[in-house]
Amino acid sequence: MTFPKDNLNRPLRDLRISVTDRCNLRCEYCMPAEIFGPDYPFLPKGDILAFGEISRLANLFVKCGVEKIRLTGGEPLLRDRLPDLVSELAKIDGLHDLALTTNGLRLEAFAIPLRDAGLQRVTVSLDALSRETAKRLNGSFESTNHTLNGIAAAKEAGLEVKINTVIKRGVNEHEILPLANRFRGSGTCVRFIEYMDAGNYNGWDGQDVVRSNEVLDLLKNEHPLEAVPPRYQGEVAKRYKYLDGAGEVGFISSVSEPFCGDCCRARLTADGKLVTCLFAKNGHDLRVPLRDGLCDKDLLEIIKKVWRLRQDRYSELRHQGMSDSGEETKVEMSYVGG
Ligand code: GTP
Ligand code: 5AD
Ligand code: SF4
Ligand code: SF4
Repeated sequence: MTFPKDNLNRPLRDLRISVTDRCNLRCEYCMPAEIFGPDYPFLPKGDILAFGEISRLANLFVKCGVEKIRLTGGEPLLRDRLPDLVSELAKIDGLHDLALTTNGLRLEAFAIPLRDAGLQRVTVSLDALSRETAKRLNGSFESTNHTLNGIAAAKEAGLEVKINTVIKRGVNEHEILPLANRFRGSGTCVRFIEYMDAGNYNGWDGQDVVRSNEVLDLLKNEHPLEAVPPRYQGEVAKRYKYLDGAGEVGFISSVSEPFCGDCCRARLTADGKLVTCLFAKNGHDLRVPLRDGLCDKDLLEIIKKVWRLRQDRYSELRHQGMSDSGEETKVEMSYVGG
């Protein structure tokens, strides 16, 4: 079997599948409440891929070289019977890693069913420990407590847990140390993410980005840290270990240090579009050919062709001041799954 490589010689290894574009939070950097209100045109139910359709496509992606699948949203735990999908995906031969990204609000109830279905890992978004900051950032006073309970339940269930924390200047910088300290020594790695110009509505301003180096300096002031080598080529986060043995922290620096060169990630939206970059303007529809009855071989050819033509490297171009997002709109993070 020959696996496709894209125009920049990058293989396809990692598939992120969004199962819904809805969310029960409104993080200002992702789904600002003024835009994502009751009138926002979320995907109609009939457009959303059924579990059988997702599993069929996932199998084909594995035939293109995918070894790792991550389920995303919006908030994936809003999708009915998600563990049923997990158990279908867990059966795929050749898939080595099955993970989920969630805001954790519903994780307490789902941790055991997800583990039993074959999920290996969860990454939980948590940007603040204080209720006030959480309210300011994601619209909920209660989210932190629910999310912390979800994290505890996931660990109890034996799932590997990581935390994703987006830092926005002037909003949650003061949460960096409390978050790092809370999870030090707990076996859970906190990854600090640079705020990105994702989607069209978050009002991104480069001044609001807290660069990873700044966060690292802040942490180093408290605890000696040492860089550790990447676990695999193309690992998104740069990891550091606490020299006192209290575990690791990570940094995702797509603004200050883009990592497009190794990007082997494809994204499948809830309505079946194959998106080849987080900052793409649109995707390639797989739902219509799927529902038109194309055979696996023909669908596989479509996927391979899209991948071979891929030349995305948005973050690198942004870094060089050459991104051309211009008037054209980008896909939304909540649609493409972050
Ligand atoms: P692991 O398998 O645990 O290493 O997961 P990961 O770090 O590959 O994926 P995760 O979803 O945890 O990524 C964390 C965040 O990094 C995302 O929510 C995005 O903000 C950012 N990110 C992930 N992949 C990309 C990417 O391809 N491009 C850019 N610009 N940012 C990305
Ligand atoms: N910048 C950085 N990360 C973002 N996410 C969503 N919007 C942004 C943004 N503007 C990421 C967060 C969250 C995941 C679902 O998407 O890491 O954990
Ligand atoms: Fe929802 Fe996650 Fe977006 Fe926040 S970042 S609004 S939790 S999808
Ligand atoms: Fe990959 Fe696009 Fe992110 Fe670059 S900006 S790492 S090409 S998803």
